[in-house]
Amino acid sequence: MADRYLSFTATAPGRLLTRRLGLPQPAALSRWTAERPALEGHLTHLTAGGPTALDLAPVLARTGLPAEPTGSARSTGAKGSGGTTASSGPAAVVLDATGVRDVDALAEVHAALHPVVRSVAASGRIVVLGAPLDARDHHQAAVQQALEGFVRSLGKEIGRGRTVNLVRLTDASAAESTLRFLLSPKSAYVSGQVIGVGTEEVAGFPGSDGPVDRALPLAGRTALVTGGARGIGEAVAETLARDGAHVVVLDVPQAEEDARRVAARLGGSALTLDITAADAGERIAAELPDGLDVLIHNAGITRDRRLVNMPADRWSTVLDVNLASVLRTTDALLAKGALRAGGRIVATASIAGLAGNAGQTNYGASKAGVAGLVRSLAPRALAEHGVTVNAVAPGFIETRMTAAVPLFIREAGRRMNSLAQGGLPVDVAETTAWLAHPASGAVNGQVVRVCGQSLLGA
Ligand code: NAI
Repeated sequence: MADRYLSFTATAPGRLLTRRLGLPQPAALSRWTAERPALEGHLTHLTAGGPTALDLAPVLARTGLPAEPTGSARSTGAKGSGGTTASSGPAAVVLDATGVRDVDALAEVHAALHPVVRSVAASGRIVVLGAPLDARDHHQAAVQQALEGFVRSLGKEIGRGRTVNLVRLTDASAAESTLRFLLSPKSAYVSGQVIGVGTEEVAGFPGSDGPVDRALPLAGRTALVTGGARGIGEAVAETLARDGAHVVVLDVPQAEEDARRVAARLGGSALTLDITAADAGERIAAELPDGLDVLIHNAGITRDRRLVNMPADRWSTVLDVNLASVLRTTDALLAKGALRAGGRIVATASIAGLAGNAGQTNYGASKAGVAGLVRSLAPRALAEHGVTVNAVAPGFIETRMTAAVPLFIREAGRRMNSLAQGGLPVDVAETTAWLAHPASGAVNGQVVRVCGQSLLGA
């Protein structure tokens, strides 16, 4: 569904009128295209909190973004190459704050970003790197947690389609796929997120090791997308096929025509199956005797009513599609060894499951359940099967599901985020593709919101 307000504010009179009235001013986001695959501009690398153990420079060099041109004005006391002028502002800023261990060092975060922030280009990126919280050092934990509040607050004030995210890491190379994603147009609708990148990848399972074809990272891999016939699932199928996967588009028998059309367009195959069938996992495994590398649990439904008006069948239908079937098929496919080592599971949660939403007690419960499943299963699935388990949690995404929302609620949903607009299915798809990437083996147990930093929930 077209966002007419966004189109209106892109015109000169629209901009003038909305500014005069103090209305939201959404910026047109730059998304990935084959013609414009990278951010346009340079990358500024800053450090706060003294020397750090991260070997970041080679990883940043491989993002393809040029380093800040030498000779640009330097106006920060922090170590690094910040302080460019507005006309030559960076497209991306990476601030390594892993060494921040006390409140004095936290001042260096301010010193590093204060002079630069205004000049960051429209649709630019700020990525702050933090350390895991140290349970034995409450000063370190306090100031590292402080980075979350900092990042989320900056995300809310920065505007112009710019995003701000925090990555907690201990090893720069394990975080390369994550940094490449966050420092690219593929993460246009991901802001205000805290992403943990561990180093717990299990030796012996193929994951981030080995050469990965940059253009076709999923070449030779098979991906199954539930609910892939339309909406977000269709965009996920397209994006995984773009990255080289053979995609199996699974959808209900009523959607067979659409599923076949999508599969044919992507050179994949269609599988018509109601995912709530008790033997859905077995049927998927039978369909894919050579196994599966990427499992995307995307199928989902809403049956909204306030609890006082909700009959039991509306509750159970939503819980069955959105949660019970995800648990059942995941268990069945892991038990059968149908997911190959180095595999990826990406489930679909929702900000309604994280923040709660009136009229969606059933849906919110089901999607919170997905987050619980991911957090609990992730370490075991990695240790026992070499498979990572993560979730995307979309906010307001322009699909048939949200087109059915009443006008005023829909308009509020679109604007109530830091980017003041709804996301597109491709935004969820790009986030899914990053989590499904062979080099994302150190990203595990994460629930990543794709919500333009929605004001709902943390
Ligand atoms: P959609 O309604 O456009 O598409 C859902 C697809 O799932 C359809 O093709 C449908 O036939 C399929 N499906 C439903 N029940 C199924 C079953 N039992 N077995 C197999 N396939 C089934 O929905 P949309 O908007 O694309 O959402 C996709 C996922 O994203 C869902 O899990 C949804 O809860 C989640 N989500 C969507 C948001 C949005 O703003 N659109 C926000 C947050 C989460």
